[in-house]
Amino acid sequence: SERTLVLVKPDGVSRGLVGEVISRIERKGLTLAALELKTVERAVAEQHYAEHDGRPFFESLLEFITSGPVVALVAEGPRAISAFRQVAGGTDPVDKAVPGSIRGDFGLEVQYNLVHGSDSPESAEREIKLWFPNL
Ligand code: GTP
Ligand code: MG
Repeated sequence: SERTLVLVKPDGVSRGLVGEVISRIERKGLTLAALELKTVERAVAEQHYAEHDGRPFFESLLEFITSGPVVALVAEGPRAISAFRQVAGGTDPVDKAVPGSIRGDFGLEVQYNLVHGSDSPESAEREIKLWFPNL
């Protein structure tokens, strides 16, 4: 079994989609290992998105992710990392995410794509330590 770090980003929280996202995670068969509502400090956001440092959208991404509360959770199950990436849909909610995925069903713009999911076992380990140091 595997663990992945999921965020419901500030747009998902402000649009009232927390229940929808959790419901889809549970219906997929993944289980919740940790769950918390929190407002992200800039330093944590910078570490979380360190791989994008230097990209043109980095500043805007940090501003967005710190703009309001997020729901951070750890989902667990067989192939949890890929399973949640499938449930989330591709990064661009219109060009990449298919209907039936979270981003495909609820998103319009690439930055406001509602959820984050770890993209590899290494990322998952790093991100779970960052968001849930006591887990
Ligand atoms: P995450 O799960 O959030 O990491 O998304 P991802 O893995 O599908 O995409 P990626 O890691 O490449 O990008 C991280 C986040 O940056 C995306 O989810 C978007 O919110 C944002 N982002 C990516 N590309 C762009 C872009 O071209 N413009 C803007 N404004 N934001 C972007
Ligand atoms: Mg990513």
